[in-house]
Amino acid sequence: METQMDLATLEERLKVGGWFEVSRDVWHNFYPKVPDDVIDLLRQYPPEKICTDCGAPLVATFTPQRAQMWEIMECQQCRLAVLVAARDRDMDVTLRDRGMPKRHRHARLGDFPATIIDAIPDDRGVYIHGPVGSGKTHLLCAVMRSEAVGKAIYTDPKGEYQLREFHRYPLLTSIQEVLHEVRGTYNTRGGDTEEGILEEVSDVPLLLLDDVGVEKPTEWALGMIYLIVDRRYRDNRRTFFTSNLSLAELAEHLNDRIASRITEMCTVIRLDGRDRRLKGGV
Ligand SMILES: Nc1ncnc2c1ncn2[C@@H]1O[C@H](COP(=O)(O)OP(=O)(O)O)[C@@H](O)[C@H]1O
Ligand SMILES: [Mg+2]
Ligand SMILES: [Zn+2]
Repeated sequence: METQMDLATLEERLKVGGWFEVSRDVWHNFYPKVPDDVIDLLRQYPPEKICTDCGAPLVATFTPQRAQMWEIMECQQCRLAVLVAARDRDMDVTLRDRGMPKRHRHARLGDFPATIIDAIPDDRGVYIHGPVGSGKTHLLCAVMRSEAVGKAIYTDPKGEYQLREFHRYPLLTSIQEVLHEVRGTYNTRGGDTEEGILEEVSDVPLLLLDDVGVEKPTEWALGMIYLIVDRRYRDNRRTFFTSNLSLAELAEHLNDRIASRITEMCTVIRLDGRDRRLKGGV
């Protein structure tokens, strides 16, 4: 049996069959230490491999300290596609958890004219009002998605794509829902507390409150609404409201104290026109 590989023969075989053709024999002959001149020769013949899914050539890095010597990087194109899908799926799931109704998951800022999108300030809240079906919830959900920061894809020092979690999601809910949850804490032990629920809606950096003005304005409800709005007002936290009522009508329905806080916090955007639901959308 041959104990030493002759360099010339090895090169001949490398030229014809490449790295894969000789790798097993090299280890068989030189185990446990491959001589430096053989290593130098092997380094000149990187394995040529293509991705079995997309056909792109794969990058090979020479790592003589490893048994395989050549490390072949996973196809980055295909890895990117998998990561993008995972990132988007995760975003959709999280937005659902944070209150986005399923029927509005396709809402995007691009669905609205630039005049409306340009009217949304970066650092203040917005009061969106208009009749039923004018697209208020649609706009709220489009804003929610555009403001959400979930997983982001980046390239690590080795040149491989990776996912990193950032976690910044708005919360979409309604006064009715919040009051319902608070009421729920009165008759169950353990679980969420009233203050826990109020803190979440008071402290979230971007709160989206859908359909303000449909709740029954009991004294208790008004107290709760004022508490939430006032905490957010004092801490300068961005809040978006939607309503069928104008601010003047809201002042009437709730009270002046709440409406004037909202007026100070928000830019007003009016959506009008046809009911998209009746016309089946356009
Ligand atoms: N700009 C838009 N582009 C596409 N679909 C829209 C748009 N605005 C609203 N819609 C759709 O029309 C329907 C009614 O809009 P919605 O936002 O629910 O109205 P509102 O909350 O004002 O009652 C929904 O199905 C919504 O997805
Ligand atoms: Mg709505
Ligand atoms: Zn590929």
